[in-house]
Amino acid sequence: EEIEKGGFEHFMLKEIYEQPRAILDTYRGRLLAKQGIIKMAGVDENLEKLLNANRIIIVACGTSWHAGLVAEYIFEDLARIPVEVEYASEFRYRNPVITDKDVLIAISQSGETADTLAAIKLAKEKGAFVFGVCNVVGSSIARETDAGAYTHAGPEIGVASTKAFTTQITVLTLIALKLAKEKGVFTTTRFHEYLTELEQIPAKVEKALESNALVEIIAEVYKDSTNCLYLGRGYNFPVALEGALKLKEISYIHAEGYPAAEMKHGPIALIDEHMPVVVIATNKGHYEKVVSNIQEIKSRKGKIIAVVTQGDQQVKELADHVIEIPETLESLTPLLTTIPLQLLSYHIAVMRGCNVDQPRNLAKSVTVE
Ligand code: G6P
Repeated sequence: EEIEKGGFEHFMLKEIYEQPRAILDTYRGRLLAKQGIIKMAGVDENLEKLLNANRIIIVACGTSWHAGLVAEYIFEDLARIPVEVEYASEFRYRNPVITDKDVLIAISQSGETADTLAAIKLAKEKGAFVFGVCNVVGSSIARETDAGAYTHAGPEIGVASTKAFTTQITVLTLIALKLAKEKGVFTTTRFHEYLTELEQIPAKVEKALESNALVEIIAEVYKDSTNCLYLGRGYNFPVALEGALKLKEISYIHAEGYPAAEMKHGPIALIDEHMPVVVIATNKGHYEKVVSNIQEIKSRKGKIIAVVTQGDQQVKELADHVIEIPETLESLTPLLTTIPLQLLSYHIAVMRGCNVDQPRNLAKSVTVE
């Protein structure tokens, strides 16, 4: 096991650090920036079905569901396809309206999650075309779906999902870009801009990982907190949910993710000098609005840990701690903002003496209901 950890103390940390490579492996051979094409067999062979879909329904559980939420923003914003994201466990039992004009995308790292598998079977019975995004090759979900695209994250051992999440977003971004191009929503220039930027992501994730030492210092300050709030808007709202989930899962600190503006409708009541609030405040996507949310937290004495774009000035003046990530296109920011949040939960959990790779009561894959 020590050899498998490759010098890292835990699988989770190793897997966090594997992300530049995992993302590269996931788009390798698919993203051909110079030629200006995206090649994905599962998509190419079913292009008509995907392009003619009335809507896309995404089903998943846990972290994969968060990747689905990011995908909702990407598909709607870039490819202009209506998307609904559902917890597989709810979808399968609520007698959903599904037709043969729907495309269902099932996202699953393990490919063995019982509820996701059941949701797929239901959608197939109703005539929908089912596309899988799995990490484990030959898994039940990969076999049950009509077509699919694998993430190439490599084995994920830590129960808390990290590299599976960013590679799922990578695959879903590729699909959305491909459909945007085929639908004619994207000009060739814009398509090129995205492909070129996507190619920069592994190097930028590498840069984001350089925040590790700073994140460790921040973790030391907040390791004894009993609650923590995560806020983000737009593309980074799902990242806030995922950040909170990571902290809950491995450190057992109660954490909630919220859309930043919704804070006013509840969580703001909880903010006092004991409440750390992690805010994703990159310079794109309603930056000014997030800044005003930060001011509201500050005036209630909340402690602000902000994830900002390199060179940020405004948030730096307000926040107690700032973690910088490199600049990128708004829709690709989740791939970078996620990194420091993974590291934060990791360090806090280690400092609290928790079993990071095998948190209590959790399983890597939930194969029973
Ligand atoms: C469990 C795991 C999570 C995972 C979820 C969905 O809860 O602990 O890390 O996100 O299942 O698993 P899947 O394999 O379907 O992505």
